[in-house]
Amino acid sequence: MKITNLIENVEINFIEDFANDILIGLSSKVKSIPSKYFYDQKGSQLFQKITSQNEYYLTRKEFEILEKESTNIAMALEEDEIDLIELGAGDGHKSILLINGLINKGKKVNYYPIDISKEALIQLDQNIKPSSQLKIHGVVGEYISALKHLKSISTNRKLVLFLGSNIGNFDRTQNQIFFKKLWKNMNDSDYLLTGFDLKKSPEIMNSAYNDSEGFTADFNINLLTRINKELGGEFKEELFEHYGSYNPILGAMESFLISKITQSVFIKSLNRTFFFEENEPIHLEYSFKFSSTDIQYLAKETGCSVIKDYKDKDNYFTDSLWQIKKETKDEQ
Ligand code: AVI
Repeated sequence: MKITNLIENVEINFIEDFANDILIGLSSKVKSIPSKYFYDQKGSQLFQKITSQNEYYLTRKEFEILEKESTNIAMALEEDEIDLIELGAGDGHKSILLINGLINKGKKVNYYPIDISKEALIQLDQNIKPSSQLKIHGVVGEYISALKHLKSISTNRKLVLFLGSNIGNFDRTQNQIFFKKLWKNMNDSDYLLTGFDLKKSPEIMNSAYNDSEGFTADFNINLLTRINKELGGEFKEELFEHYGSYNPILGAMESFLISKITQSVFIKSLNRTFFFEENEPIHLEYSFKFSSTDIQYLAKETGCSVIKDYKDKDNYFTDSLWQIKKETKDEQ
């Protein structure tokens, strides 16, 4: 696989940004840590373990959809050659289902997995092999700048994949901004396939984010371990507990770490001590859920039309196929 690297000096900026975000988050009235910091090596391994738990239905359901519907998705696209651009490709075990669906329908596929981590692309390289019908070109970079780069090098119709309910980790303003940025960097009639976790009984969602093996709890606690390791924090992990709960007004799972006692924690690289009251929460993550109406609304607000929602048999999850709509040539 050819790999283009659009990122330099990530390490230096990363630690500075991490420190700034922790300073802002832990000195706010309601304390928080941005969920993007979950994914160091240990966090990514824990996330993999979460996805293999029975309670965490999301990955299994999306796999079921792609197994069942890839040929139908391929048939919904008119073009014989497609640029398949995947935002955050992971190990590619879901993408390969769609790639096979497209190839089986006689289409040529130029697959561009985009990831912020080169290691993720190297791993994917082991799992998906090129052929006469499939070209693979990885891009290390931020999603939007990578998409901008790809827009400048190819004129084929694009299908952008944003799978795995990653959209749920943006709030309802951020998700519109994100889709509007995608729209800006795509052409009229290009396609978008996004994974949305559907609203359902809170009991099912609550158990998905409170798995009985405790991997979700470890995933959350790992954020404190990461602050200890990378910023010289002095968190005692056993003095915090994981709490995850569905908020039906927001339509989102929310996860927190709760301080078990009144305590102070020093973070060396910030040269600052943070005070926690007994039972005080640190907000970590939103995982927004969607109804079909929410999805229609989001598509319309961001200049897209819904071609079809592909759902699993229990209606737990959908991969929603959209098409970009641009009114005039100037908007291309
Ligand atoms: C990555 N993201 C879609 C997961 C989710 O469901 O929001 C992260 C996760 N957090 C706890 N469990 C899984």
